[in-house]
Amino acid sequence: MLRLLVLLTNLAVLVLSADKFSRDDFPPDFVFGASTSAYQIEGAANQDGRTPSIWDTFAQAGNMHGATGDTACDGYHKYKEDVQLMRDTGLEAYRFSISWSRLLPNGRGTINPKGLQYYNNLINELISHGIQPHVTLHHSDLPQTLEDEYGGWISRKSVKDFEAYADVCFRKFGDRVPYWTTFNEANVFVMGGYDAGNLPPQRCSSPSPYGLNCSRGNSSIEPYLAAHHILLAHASAARLYKNKYQDRQHGFIGINVLAYWFVPLTNSSDDQIAAQRANDFFFGWILDPLVFGEYPDAMKKNVGSRMPIFTTAESNWIKGSFDFLGVNHYSTSYAKDNPSSLKIKKRDFFADMAVEFSTWGLQELLKYIKRVYGNPPVYIHENGERMIRNLTLEDWPRVEYLHAYIGSLLDALRNGSNTKGYFIWSLLDLFELLDGFESGYGLYFVDLDDPDLKRQPKLSAHWYSHFLKRSKGMRLHGLTELGMNLSALSRSHFFQ
Ligand code: FCB
Repeated sequence: MLRLLVLLTNLAVLVLSADKFSRDDFPPDFVFGASTSAYQIEGAANQDGRTPSIWDTFAQAGNMHGATGDTACDGYHKYKEDVQLMRDTGLEAYRFSISWSRLLPNGRGTINPKGLQYYNNLINELISHGIQPHVTLHHSDLPQTLEDEYGGWISRKSVKDFEAYADVCFRKFGDRVPYWTTFNEANVFVMGGYDAGNLPPQRCSSPSPYGLNCSRGNSSIEPYLAAHHILLAHASAARLYKNKYQDRQHGFIGINVLAYWFVPLTNSSDDQIAAQRANDFFFGWILDPLVFGEYPDAMKKNVGSRMPIFTTAESNWIKGSFDFLGVNHYSTSYAKDNPSSLKIKKRDFFADMAVEFSTWGLQELLKYIKRVYGNPPVYIHENGERMIRNLTLEDWPRVEYLHAYIGSLLDALRNGSNTKGYFIWSLLDLFELLDGFESGYGLYFVDLDDPDLKRQPKLSAHWYSHFLKRSKGMRLHGLTELGMNLSALSRSHFFQ
């Protein structure tokens, strides 16, 4: 299953969709941008008062084959250069995250002035270049001190600390930040960190079905508990924002999930139910409480008494506590019923799901969100193509992937989806959460052998830039013409 997660995250899919389109086919208030996250881009891990997060601990313990985010892309020092790159590319928005332990080194209490300064600088730089900041508060990097103190997200104490951290962010940056996301991939963070154990805080049951060394944790219980607290933390922060800041700051708040789109492997009703169950377990887990105030029935049924329960007050608190949904989408997958997994006595999250997968669009997913969740505003926070790092600056597969997905998004919009923005993962090749520096999704290559960590545009950066700037002759009349233009570009830019 661990391999499946990796595979699902990385497999590209080409979706048949509108292939002739331009930026102007999208509504003027729709935003196009690119994404990063604090631990993956900033570096300066031990500088200016920052303390470790659970990601620092995990990477430094050797879990990423020696790779760490200690330096990453040195975004902490190079933010001006990076904002200039964004500007040159024509990005309209930039999605990044705040490192909680850089801003509040003790997890709560005293604000680190250097951390505050850094995020103020970054936000101001973006705004002065006409780029809209979209800020995530938790991108998998809980301060280690809170993990040590009470076990992080498996303790309900995390809810209060998150709310207080969010309060600092709204108070200090909210006058300039119009879009807040409480959690990145609330679902995957929990699956990886508390079930599979392949991600920090690396908790899982022993013996691990994924061959990992699980020294602490409980995969039958903790994933559900951590998600429960994350939902409560989200709701507390979102309610706080709505009650105390929104009238004045006029921003919006949401949460992010990773959503594959699962389709049944066969027409059998068992597989159809399995695909629905997979969607329920993957994102209904987070979205159902937000929209309906309850976990999906399929989860309650299979997880039974291990499923935490919301009180009526909590359910009302969570229900409706969002202005938009953030969706990360990388691929679509087939689901096949696997009833035998329910025979396992000590079941983990994936055994509870009782689904087997095999991988091969965005459109169907957006249609589903429209139908089931009442068509809320959606931001595609991440979409992108994984490629081996260092391979080439001519990242054709990525250009094709992005082109196909943006086309598919346009089709979804034309069919009434309320999607409001799209961000490519990622702006730069950065420290990847699955394999460190082995692969990259970046529009820009970062040369790790260069002491200056020089950024170099790939074809995808040029392609996106042409799209965003509505360049003449680049109305994306299919990939052939695009190809000729880009080949010419690539020769003149990189290989002279
Ligand atoms: C997502 C993460 C993001 C990035 C991509 C490839 O799961 O949110 O940080 O690593 O995968």
